[in-house]
Amino acid sequence: MKRLLLVLLCTACQPRAGLDDVSGDVGALGKGLPRGFLWGTATAAHQIEGGLDNSWTDFEAGAFPDGRPHIKNQDRSTIATDSWNRFDEDLAAMKALGSTTYRFSIEWSRLEPRKGEWNDAAMQRYREWCLELRAAGIEPMVTLHHFTLPKWVVEAGGFENEASKADLERFTRRVAGNLKDQVDWWVTLNEPNVYAVQGYLAGIFPPGKKDDTVTQTKVIANMLKAHARMAVALREVDDVDADGDGFATRLSVAHHVRYFQPATASPLDTAIAGLTDDYSNESIPRALKTGRILLSVPGAITIDETVPDLAGSIDVLGLNYYTRDMVRADLGSASLSQLTYRKGRAVSDLGWDLYPDGLYSFLTRFSAYGWPIVITENGLADRSGKLRTPFLIQHLTAIERAIRDGADVRGYAHWSLMDNFEWAEGYDAQFGLFTIEKTTLRRVPTESVQPFRAIGANIPR
Ligand code: FCB
Repeated sequence: MKRLLLVLLCTACQPRAGLDDVSGDVGALGKGLPRGFLWGTATAAHQIEGGLDNSWTDFEAGAFPDGRPHIKNQDRSTIATDSWNRFDEDLAAMKALGSTTYRFSIEWSRLEPRKGEWNDAAMQRYREWCLELRAAGIEPMVTLHHFTLPKWVVEAGGFENEASKADLERFTRRVAGNLKDQVDWWVTLNEPNVYAVQGYLAGIFPPGKKDDTVTQTKVIANMLKAHARMAVALREVDDVDADGDGFATRLSVAHHVRYFQPATASPLDTAIAGLTDDYSNESIPRALKTGRILLSVPGAITIDETVPDLAGSIDVLGLNYYTRDMVRADLGSASLSQLTYRKGRAVSDLGWDLYPDGLYSFLTRFSAYGWPIVITENGLADRSGKLRTPFLIQHLTAIERAIRDGADVRGYAHWSLMDNFEWAEGYDAQFGLFTIEKTTLRRVPTESVQPFRAIGANIPR
């Protein structure tokens, strides 16, 4: 009741209240989620495993394009959270959270360090992780591509080269063949739009190119084509229903959505916000539904191509949601816009506007496609640990509201299980429900662990 009152009060505040105005009491939150709702966390191999050698390790070292290190504070992924050797500690953390799912990625460069040369021992370790997860009642959700590439794929042009799809398909077949009796929930790709924008527009991900919206757009299209091949492969190879729910595969893409709002009421800002929304948010689910890749940066490139295997290539839509951007038209810039965060609101340590209504909006809007939705990422960089619980409460409240309004939401994976190597931000941005003690790498619970567990305990079983 207290929580309800606070939420109601907050909704009435003008402008909408900052997160710090919400109490840490989770009350009945979670009871509005459907039976069997997957509850857990997400990570990615490069950010946690340690000991890798791939496109990112080169980029961190400054190998290209300008020979300078690219990561904040010159951090390197190196040992990361050493999860390759500490899965038992990660599993203990998941259990403490009351998790029923864990989304993690399989590192291609580890399994196939050179073309056609496979590391079976590494494959076996991933398999053991899946077995241990299942034994703990935690449904593995496996991502096959999360931002990194083996160096031999980079040398062949990475996703700039459409031929990469054949290599990714072979990798997919190999992994699916090994894990099919353990894994049903497959995420083929993580955030094609972010991969392309950060690598080719912002230049802060490898290959570090700037303002090249032409290549950026081709890369998104090539990633979608790769996904189509991966989906065909997964459906062919994985014929085992590992969790006994009647489905051998639950395929998805983890699609990054941002709530784009025009910075002013001017028709130009409104038009550019609409274009940005179509390019970044809509084009990918549209392609996954219809098979038609329609991507346009006016004045630079338009791709309009239909790929038959794309249509119907997912069973579930994965959404990664973090923030809202205010869009100001800037026709002189490559992206035609400047993005800023709204002033005077609660923001994360990275300055991101924490805007739960945006999540509600995407859940109801994308329901029209007819897929169930899983939130494959949602979280914030919060070193103080003070914003995370209110953030969780408000986003879960938004999810329950969307469900009441008809959205079919099946799961939530918080980003992240623990602080980790946050790409260009290095170790500075702390997204974890657990924090990592610097010298021992011990997983230390933040004050959000208990509320997270309490929400999970309310989910109908
Ligand atoms: C997403 C990425 C994930 C993590 C979060 C903070 O865009 O998928 O790896 O970096 O942002």
